[in-house]
Amino acid sequence: MKKEGLLEVSHLTCLYPISKKTEIRAVSDVSFQIRSGEIFGLIGESGSGKSTIARCVMNLLKPANGSVFYRGIDIYDKKEYRKHKKMLQTERQLIFQDSGSSLNQRMKVHEVIAEPMKIQRRKPLRGSYRAEAEFQMQHVGLDVSYLDQYPAELSGGQRQRLAIARALTMEPKLLVADEPIASLDVSIQAQIVNLFLHLREEHGFSFLFIAHDLAMAEFLCDRVGVMYRGRLVEEAPVKELFERPIHPYTKALLSAIPIPDPVKERARKPAEFHEGDFFFDGEWTQERAEHFVLREGGRTL
Ligand SMILES: Nc1ncnc2c1ncn2[C@@H]1O[C@H](COP(=O)(O)OP(=O)(O)OP(=O)(O)O)[C@@H](O)[C@H]1O
Ligand SMILES: [Mg+2]
Repeated sequence: MKKEGLLEVSHLTCLYPISKKTEIRAVSDVSFQIRSGEIFGLIGESGSGKSTIARCVMNLLKPANGSVFYRGIDIYDKKEYRKHKKMLQTERQLIFQDSGSSLNQRMKVHEVIAEPMKIQRRKPLRGSYRAEAEFQMQHVGLDVSYLDQYPAELSGGQRQRLAIARALTMEPKLLVADEPIASLDVSIQAQIVNLFLHLREEHGFSFLFIAHDLAMAEFLCDRVGVMYRGRLVEEAPVKELFERPIHPYTKALLSAIPIPDPVKERARKPAEFHEGDFFFDGEWTQERAEHFVLREGGRTL
């Protein structure tokens, strides 16, 4: 079945079995689309199901229900997957919070970068694997003097650049970035976010960007989906969402962002909220152009 958009997540439901009789419903009936060249953000509190969605998009977790289409290919249809395996394995790349430290620490930087090319039997476009590694390092702003060093000798931010350089050798079209900046210092976070923007401009990459940090999501994303307890409760272009949030959970999340102006910040009263304060069942309703919200059945907000 062919669908529009680069990535189409359709009525996704994911369960984790925890015993023979019990399972955790981590994601419930979630649908969204990512267009070519678009940065789509997923935000929401811990445990809301963001990483579970990322796993499904990367073929790492089979959904209990629903489908994921990449370029119109149903990635959980075994026949379709086999037919397009190589493309699916190279065009989608995952970068996560600590991807830099999960790399093989016994390999040198240039070997780390070249490893996926070797696995995929891709010829280095720039003559040798080492030349390719050097090129990608320059591309992501990692000094080439690190070529023969080990990942452990790099800083957190540099290791994240290394993970990105490694992903870029696959010439990806979709980068799935699961809290890629969460463990970095604030100044380094901004650098990595700027690198993402630069890469999008240069290559037209699409991103699924998962974040806790709303300010970064506001800066980076085109559209944002808000997750709450496994449900997508609101989705809108980023400016629209930040200016006119509708769902009470989105409003509470946004009120928790500190304001840079110290006077206003002192006067700000962040809404207090607790687990289970908000509804997460209802009808997915379009409110404005591209602005959708989960409306509680029959009750006005
Ligand atoms: N491997 C697993 N086995 C059992 N339950 C899991 C597993 N992974 C996640 N869960 C549960 O599924 C739910 C969603 O988890 P998920 O990791 O997708 O959330 P998240 O939004 O990424 O959270 P965080 O912001 O902390 O990364 C949570 O209730 C979590 O406890
Ligand atoms: Mg997560």
